[in-house]
Amino acid sequence: MANLVKIRRPGTADAQKPQTVDPDAPAVYLETFGCQMNQADSALIAGQLGRAGYRAVRDPAAADVILINTCAIREKAEDRVWGRTSQLLRHRSDNPDLVIGITGCMAEHLKDKVAARAPYISLVAGPDSYRSIAELVDRARGGATVVDVKLDKAEVYNELDPHADDDGISGFVTIQRGCDKFCTFCVVPYTRGRERGVPPREVLRHTRALAERGYKEVVLLGQTVNSYAYEDGDFAALLRAVAAVDGIERIRFTSPYPVDFSPRVIEVMASEPKICPQVHLPLQSGSDVMLERMRRGYTRGEFLDLVGALRNAVPNLALSTDIMVGFCGETDEDHQQTLSVMREVRFDFAFMFSYSDRGITYASRKMTDDVTPEIKGARLREVIELQESHTRASHEAMIGQTLDVLVLGPSKRGDKTLGRVPTFHKVLLPPGAGEPGTFVRATITGSTGHSLLA
Ligand code: 5AD
Repeated sequence: MANLVKIRRPGTADAQKPQTVDPDAPAVYLETFGCQMNQADSALIAGQLGRAGYRAVRDPAAADVILINTCAIREKAEDRVWGRTSQLLRHRSDNPDLVIGITGCMAEHLKDKVAARAPYISLVAGPDSYRSIAELVDRARGGATVVDVKLDKAEVYNELDPHADDDGISGFVTIQRGCDKFCTFCVVPYTRGRERGVPPREVLRHTRALAERGYKEVVLLGQTVNSYAYEDGDFAALLRAVAAVDGIERIRFTSPYPVDFSPRVIEVMASEPKICPQVHLPLQSGSDVMLERMRRGYTRGEFLDLVGALRNAVPNLALSTDIMVGFCGETDEDHQQTLSVMREVRFDFAFMFSYSDRGITYASRKMTDDVTPEIKGARLREVIELQESHTRASHEAMIGQTLDVLVLGPSKRGDKTLGRVPTFHKVLLPPGAGEPGTFVRATITGSTGHSLLA
């Protein structure tokens, strides 16, 4: 899924902690890599461990158990996890009983390799093993090496209560797990298993729980959210139901899949004011030859038609995307096609990557990773440079607009107030512009590289 940012959120939120925390309870430090789904999964893990009597800590030096919730989408993501794991390993010298565990998307890759590659890891748990994560951790603490990477076609974690370490204003709700698309480059169906929808009653239960705790925004999560299906309910119906929850003022979702944007979904986006005018629409490539080879299921023309339909239906829509350069067999002509779609659409924002072979995918087995690292690097630089000019222009085009800003809290440096406009852009407001969780009207006055000023 998209929007890949490395998330380092040690521990779990104070706001939801049980009333009394036993200071002698075993301490868990949890660090998350990868996408928002992983972040939401960490909240599930934290919820399960909290209920089993574990206490969350923000300092790995204070931990009895260190869990690293991992990402396997690209080689770089895995390298980063290994780098961080060896850093965290040094805490073992002060605490020989320290348990270090790997959860999430790297589990599948690791199941046979722990002993050889990482004998210091005593727990490996895959994305469908979190219901019993406390028991697995208990066993690892008892001295066993525990590996549970079974994927479960039915597991959607019904009835569990996640315990999120977030801002208390914008919360994630997982509506779908796994993926059935099998894009030839992608490891997700292998690491997270087949697609399944979370029952609407559970989605609504989580949404209402967030609203009751004062959250103003929900982000509905899934690998291909708009293919959501549960019995005879579809994504459009789910969006309407979520929009009916009092207290939640803004709804976003990520990531939709281009071929699953039904007219019904577009219609809901156009007519339901709580749904934000923002879509992350992964393009990957602008070349029909590459799109076919990636098994994306759409052509360049169909993608452009969809962009047109979305922009027609939703005024001032912000569009972001994922672009991958250097996939197997990509020629310079294919690359030019990608640049040309970027120029035609002018995405507001993009995540851009070079292809890396993930070992178990169709491309890995049947295609040749034949674009040299030098060419991949040069093409990536070209798409980044083009996108930067589009991002800058998109920020500048917003100057002068007066918008509703959801106040999130003080900015990182503490000298401003951070907020978000409906299109998801971050905005820096004057200090004291509003209480966190409230909405203020603000006029955009300028932009830095990453944020707008208001
Ligand atoms: N190599 C490089 N990038 C990849 N992505 C997915 N798989 C790979 C891979 N093997 C990118 C795609 C996807 C995003 C989440 O990560 O652009 O949309």
